[in-house]
Amino acid sequence: MAEGRHVVLGVTGGVAAYKAVYLARRLIDRGATVRVVMTESALEFVGSATFGAITGTDPVTSFFGGEDVSPHTTLGRWADVIVIAPATASTISKLAAGQSSDVLVATVLASRARVVIAPAMHTEMLDQPAVQKNIETLRAYGYEIVDPEDGPLAGGDEGPGRLADPEVIADAVREAFPRLDMAGLRVIVTAGGTREPIDPVRYIGNRSSGKMGASIAEVAVERGAEVVLVTTTTQTPVGSIEIVQVETADEMAEAVWSRAGAADVAVLAAAVADFRPDQVHRTKIRRTAGVPEIRLVPTPDILKGVSEMTSRPFLVGFAAETGSLDTASEKATAKDVDLLVANDIAKEGSGFGSDTNEVRFVFRDGSTRDLPLMSKRDVATQIWDTVMTLRAES
Ligand code: CTP
Repeated sequence: MAEGRHVVLGVTGGVAAYKAVYLARRLIDRGATVRVVMTESALEFVGSATFGAITGTDPVTSFFGGEDVSPHTTLGRWADVIVIAPATASTISKLAAGQSSDVLVATVLASRARVVIAPAMHTEMLDQPAVQKNIETLRAYGYEIVDPEDGPLAGGDEGPGRLADPEVIADAVREAFPRLDMAGLRVIVTAGGTREPIDPVRYIGNRSSGKMGASIAEVAVERGAEVVLVTTTTQTPVGSIEIVQVETADEMAEAVWSRAGAADVAVLAAAVADFRPDQVHRTKIRRTAGVPEIRLVPTPDILKGVSEMTSRPFLVGFAAETGSLDTASEKATAKDVDLLVANDIAKEGSGFGSDTNEVRFVFRDGSTRDLPLMSKRDVATQIWDTVMTLRAES
């Protein structure tokens, strides 16, 4: 069912807009909380008060004039699924082009939620190559299309183009809800590169952007987990994630070790400095003082610390390698992790700061699985799919 799920219902200007009222009702009956966004022409067909009365909230009909200064981003983040029913040729075209001139299309563009589109229009319009091409473009982008039915149309016409039955659309919305297979799971993730201060101005750091860790946290929270992200960066992942901001390896160690005992899974994706200056100068080191000698001392191995805990979480480590991943298996054993995610940071598309990554999974028994180059979000999904399978097997 749709218990507790957030649905944004987009209504555009077609005769079938009246059926969207019934769809809103059915979604609410199934347990969803529904917020409605209407285009200007939708308002010509159905009054906003009807949706207001059914959903308990006034529909959003414009970017401006309401209490929220940015309704499209608020709703875009709030939505688990966005459904547009009926969707006119005009709205479908704007979506295919990424053209955000109205508040409904802007809401879709400002969202990561799955989108369900239920087109409705006259047969001649539906048959137009331009319209068909736009529908296919949306399908290729991952939108769920609920095909229109054959039947009576406005003005006494008949043929394909009639809005699908609201029950069929409600079923498509249910299918589109994100999986909540991680509900109840407590997860801790680390991200970013640590900075080890030399003096108030300088530090020893690395090029890690924190994007991989942020994606891992984001996907986990979307799938229902309770997530703590210990990070050195200001990347703000979407979703209700507890963020613990740290800078140095010592601070990260303290943040992780004090929380990992209560976690079910720890994914340590941060690039932690292995060494830090043995002392931090209180004032800026002057050039006139000559070339300084900076003695380095080891930082705590955060991963090792977690692996040695008496009630340790399921532990995922990362291995940043350059040139070859062949040493990753040894690292997996040495670090005693349940899963090691190795990547060659010198390889094109896999480095720090990139939006993509090409990784190898190394399992406890030494076996490996190479994944192709993909977005860091997709890598995050693969990691969680694998963690969930391994946990279920153990
Ligand atoms: N790691 C850690 N604490 C450190 C260094 C690394 O917890 N002081 C963690 C990283 O977050 C990562 C894993 O250990 O999950 C492997 O990090 P990596 O830098 O690849 O390996 P190192 O152990 O530092 O070994 P080397 O630098 O020699 O490759």
